[in-house]
Amino acid sequence: MSETFDAYRKSYGSAVEQSVAFTGLAHEFFLRAKIELMDEMLKTRQFDPSDKHLVDVGCGVGSMHDLLMPMFGRITGVDTSSESIAEARDRHPANVYESYDGQRLPLSDRSVDFALTVCVIHHVPVVQWQSFVDEMRRVVRPGGFICIIEHNPLNPLTRLGVARCAFDADAVLLGKARTEALMRQSGIVDVETRYFLLSPFAVRPLQAIERAFARLPLGGQYLTLGMVR
Ligand SMILES: C[S@@+](CC[C@H](N)C(=O)[O-])C[C@H]1O[C@@H](n2cnc3c(N)ncnc32)[C@H](O)[C@@H]1O
Repeated sequence: MSETFDAYRKSYGSAVEQSVAFTGLAHEFFLRAKIELMDEMLKTRQFDPSDKHLVDVGCGVGSMHDLLMPMFGRITGVDTSSESIAEARDRHPANVYESYDGQRLPLSDRSVDFALTVCVIHHVPVVQWQSFVDEMRRVVRPGGFICIIEHNPLNPLTRLGVARCAFDADAVLLGKARTEALMRQSGIVDVETRYFLLSPFAVRPLQAIERAFARLPLGGQYLTLGMVR
């Protein structure tokens, strides 16, 4: 898998743009939607990330880091693709980036406050899904959070985007129930999921409506948040 993403060091953003071109929306729109929902959910949990250490597992070229850097105190990005990690490092010299083998995260037990993974698990072999989440839990301190953002397999437009995406040929999509089960099996508590990107067609002004339907499996993606105790 790492070889696949190594080839996208310079073209990851444009490959994503192409796969969602039918929506008429830019990649940035989708990145902001994720961060805004995560921010809202963290506020309801009274978690202030401003002095916290985030690890972004499967960070790729660090597409989300321009938006995450003003929010978190410190960012570490890890990925199996060494080329993507080199690109992320070039783009964001203030952060720490490391490539790894996809098995054991290059971090000590309980060394970060928040572990995030965005559109990564569907690229991980299914037999490794549980150990992937267990690793995230291992490195987060008690009181910290795990956040998984994934495609909603029940949304037909999401499936269309995945089918059109050059690097998604291997994707095995996982739904909310599976993601929540992986978290609970790992001992993560207070697990909750919200769907977002209800329609990829210019939903931003309709955010209140989107939030009202966030418990229904309608949105293009979902965010599952849980706490490490
Ligand atoms: C679709 S990209 C998402 C990149 C980034 N999270 C984003 O949202 O822009 C998937 C990334 O997962 C990485 N990846 C695949 N398997 C992985 C694993 N077992 N551990 C860490 N990263 C992995 C790939 O190298 C790739 O960079």
